[in-house]
Amino acid sequence: MTYGMIATWRMAYEGVAKMARELAKGGDAGQSIVEAIKMVEDYPYYKSVGFGGLPNEDCQLELDAAYMDGDNFDVGAVAGIQQTKNPIAVAERLSHERFNSFLVGSGATKYAREQGFEQQEMITDRAKRMWELRLEEIQKNNLSPYDGHDTVGMVSLDRRGKMVVGTSSSGLFMKKSGRVGDSPLSGSGFYVDSEIGGATATGLGEDLMKGCLSYETVALMGQGLSPQKAVDQVVYRFNDKLIKRKGKAGAFSLVCLNNRGQWGIATNVEFSFVAATETEKAEIYLARPGKNQTTEIEVATAEWLKAYDLRIKQPLEKLTR
Ligand code: GLY
Repeated sequence: MTYGMIATWRMAYEGVAKMARELAKGGDAGQSIVEAIKMVEDYPYYKSVGFGGLPNEDCQLELDAAYMDGDNFDVGAVAGIQQTKNPIAVAERLSHERFNSFLVGSGATKYAREQGFEQQEMITDRAKRMWELRLEEIQKNNLSPYDGHDTVGMVSLDRRGKMVVGTSSSGLFMKKSGRVGDSPLSGSGFYVDSEIGGATATGLGEDLMKGCLSYETVALMGQGLSPQKAVDQVVYRFNDKLIKRKGKAGAFSLVCLNNRGQWGIATNVEFSFVAATETEKAEIYLARPGKNQTTEIEVATAEWLKAYDLRIKQPLEKLTR
């Protein structure tokens, strides 16, 4: 059988590229998700996931993550976990629990500590500086504090036909303590069924939670739509519905993969993502909304990649926001 991986944002590239090579050799979909997401969580320059993620309004880092196995529908999730190096690994462990498989706040942190998951300070000097700058900016310009909510979400298919999805996020920058986004919520932030496919979301959790967009995308693939048609239909219809009923829609994007290794992506903003399959090497793509509820997709250029790298690695003393 074939294999594949798709993931939100450029930050997923190194993990997807590495784990797609493992999948090619017969590696496990679950392991590929945990290892690839750990790589994003561990990298300090990715400011919306794991170590170096952006703090809440009290300058505390509260992290959300989830793991779902598409063979048996096991789901594990954590929300508002603190001081824990790899929330995705905790979510994976929780997915094996018959009860108590979604833990929040101090309960999630306590579980991780007691189960021997590595504990560490997760806030970096860079994240603290961004928090200070954001606070100054909000006060000076009387702005809404909320900004930035880039979840890493990945779907994986292995050669045995097993499919797994995982997410990890520090959620909304400057969120209230205790705020939880879509990323640990089944159906909304992620969903997978190995007999059909999987999907995962990134964007403004408060709006993503108004729909069950990951579940809906999988359901439409189950009715025979191609991944691209399914996700276009779900994302653009929901975007229009939110605008009609509420007057606005936050930024959101979904990626999906079916159990034949075909993928799709739709977005209401410019968005980067990564995909790798048996026939397509790991690649970073850019997507944007196209005409008539379709999505325009292109391979990211060398200039785009260079500008991205310079942006995320700006020297601390030169940070302006
Ligand atoms: N999509 C991540 C969040 O809103 O928390």
